[in-house]
Amino acid sequence: MNRIEGKRVLITGASAGIGAACARAFHERGAHLELVARREERLHTLRRDLEERAGGEIHIHTLDVRDRPAVEALVDELASESRIPDVLVNNAGLVRGLDRFHEADPDTFDEVIDTNVKGVLYFSRSFLPHMVARNRGHVVNLGSVAGHMVYPGGSVYNATKFAVRALTQAISVDLKGTRIRVSSIDPGAVESEFSLVRFRGDEERSAKVYEGYEPLSPDDVADAVCYVVNAPEHVNVLQMLILPTDQRNPYVHHREES
Ligand SMILES: NC(=O)c1ccc[n+]([C@@H]2O[C@H](COP(=O)([O-])OP(=O)(O)OC[C@H]3O[C@@H](n4cnc5c(N)ncnc54)[C@H](OP(=O)(O)O)[C@@H]3O)[C@@H](O)[C@H]2O)c1
Repeated sequence: MNRIEGKRVLITGASAGIGAACARAFHERGAHLELVARREERLHTLRRDLEERAGGEIHIHTLDVRDRPAVEALVDELASESRIPDVLVNNAGLVRGLDRFHEADPDTFDEVIDTNVKGVLYFSRSFLPHMVARNRGHVVNLGSVAGHMVYPGGSVYNATKFAVRALTQAISVDLKGTRIRVSSIDPGAVESEFSLVRFRGDEERSAKVYEGYEPLSPDDVADAVCYVVNAPEHVNVLQMLILPTDQRNPYVHHREES
């Protein structure tokens, strides 16, 4: 049964990877889309591709999730046009480097924390009052296996994803008595632009992350997001940890020798 058709879904970080895959998956199921990211051209291209197929409306918003006034202005705009989303997918996120904490570049701390944590806070805090007023809605956060178990060199990223897991639980308990659902999808390794961003465009180093085993694809994760959103309204998947079969925890992989 398709319970997604006709729903309005806002996805942050929709210009690449998991967010773009979510956009495709929700569009295929007949949702209306509000797509958010900084790279406008990417969003235009995605919209053009999606518009070639049948589906709902597609709106794009060029925005940095760290910019609280911009987030609040977007929420006001959507509220004034009766376009408050039924589903908010807090997906925008990134990591920088893989250095041991005492050697990590402190200049990256604000960027990672502000994107991964404050982005989720700003979007959730701004949209939830509208969802509460309508007594319907679903917040889906992109956590990570890195929010369940730390790994060497993951320090700040781990801290942000532990925070996302805590926020998912905390926001959910505060919504007791409403029909609003809160979920986190927590993937292991997904082959996207994530490692390329982590290693600042170093393609060789980035490719090595996925060498010798089959990682998750962004589509695998989008399937999981659609599954939790499509579940009947009385079912809330609070947390879904999803790993490649060849990855048993953040740092235990089975790799075939080439
Ligand atoms: N890939 C993995 O192995 C993995 C595993 C577990 C969890 N995750 C999580 O999944 C989420 C998506 O990651 P991905 O793998 O799809 O990475 P990706 O391919 O690098 O995509 C990241 C997306 O986030 C957007 N973004 C980054 N900073 C932003 C900002 N300040 N404002 C607005 N948008 C921003 C990027 O768009 P612009 O650059 O155009 O703004 C891009 O669309 C992240 O939260 C990540 O932590 C990833």
